Amino acid sequence: MSHLEITESPELKAEIVRQIAQQGAISFARYMELCLYHQQYGYYTSTRNRIGKQGDFFTSSSVHSLFGRLIARQIGQLWQLMGEGPFTLVEQGAGEGYLCLDLLDALAEEFPELYAQLDYRIIEVSSDHRGKQRQRLAVHVAAGRVSWWTFSDLEPFAGCFLSNELVDAFPVHLVEKKNNELQEVMVTCTGADFAEELGPLTDQRLNDYFELSQQPLVEGNRAEVNLAALDWIRQVGRLLQRGAVLTIDYGYPAAELLAPWRRAGTLLCYHRHQSSDNPYQHIGCQDITAHINFSLLEMIGGEQGLETLYFGEQYRFLMGLGFLEELIRLQALETDPQKAQALRMTLKNLIMPEGGMGESFKVLLQGKGLGSPDLLCARPIREIGLPPGAF
Ligand SMILES: C[S@@+](CC[C@H](N)C(=O)[O-])C[C@H]1O[C@@H](n2cnc3c(N)ncnc32)[C@H](O)[C@@H]1O
Repeated sequence: MSHLEITESPELKAEIVRQIAQQGAISFARYMELCLYHQQYGYYTSTRNRIGKQGDFFTSSSVHSLFGRLIARQIGQLWQLMGEGPFTLVEQGAGEGYLCLDLLDALAEEFPELYAQLDYRIIEVSSDHRGKQRQRLAVHVAAGRVSWWTFSDLEPFAGCFLSNELVDAFPVHLVEKKNNELQEVMVTCTGADFAEELGPLTDQRLNDYFELSQQPLVEGNRAEVNLAALDWIRQVGRLLQRGAVLTIDYGYPAAELLAPWRRAGTLLCYHRHQSSDNPYQHIGCQDITAHINFSLLEMIGGEQGLETLYFGEQYRFLMGLGFLEELIRLQALETDPQKAQALRMTLKNLIMPEGGMGESFKVLLQGKGLGSPDLLCARPIREIGLPPGAF
């Protein structure tokens, strides 16, 4: 780390302290919203390297272009299932544009007819990221394929709504069960530092959340409640006329996310590739995330006509789409054994459960008006035919 590196935003800290002095303790969700999305000083809104080696964390799309290439195959199949007409692909939270670039490159090569009819719409809250996306995607912008939208301007569409690591970045409420009662974690100040205190719930929906999840919180336990995710899937479900919602993120079904043994929830912060559970340090200079409740995305999506067509670990999803075959192909193209080894190590990150993105990352594919198709991503691992001596 360079000694000149800024590891905290004093302006943002002062602004949060000012708001607490004015209104009293604020909910953790409000605190997280300010830390990540304050218009001027928020982690995602300020100018900073966030994703990749020079940043705070890797995302699958920043690891290797194969991630986007494989997803392109699934998008291509969805387009075929929908009759091969004009197709809108909305990506929300596109980061630095890696996934969009890899998808568009792959679609242009493997599905040129789809590419020619594709309307790729990016919804991105960070102006810093929008700038990076415009640069990275210049070729596809010039080809008239990409445009930028706000969520509220989006009109009902047919196609696919895609996100990778978006929902885990929505501000969450923190709730604890104390004396047999649900209480909310509020953020206040003690001297120059932030501190937590428990108070009554600021939103009745926090109570409903545990009932909906059919998983009561156990005495003494803490959990995050991502109300924004529930509103989001409801709105996405309403906007999608026909097609699919493809959500990739870390998370679990409700029973696993809110299991009694998970005493302190799943809140995690990332700063310069170090993770911690302390959201009160590196203010404005660290990402704050919480695992998502996939059962509720399925349930609330269901109310809007979204049917679950696929739910599984990222490694299974990628294997179904041809990860191993592609790994073998790419390795064979590499004549330098050291580079072949480096490629294997890089790609392993996408599927490894321990310390990689293979298992804690899940993929949910919800469809509307598609029936029950045999999706490429659902190809069972036993059907993968590898050449003898492939490894
Ligand atoms: C962890 S990054 C993931 C980036 C990217 N999908 C990738 O795979 O590299 C989260 C992204 O979501 C954006 N974001 C967060 N909340 C958003 C919202 N409500 N609407 C649009 N973009 C949002 C952030 O600015 C950032 O670009």
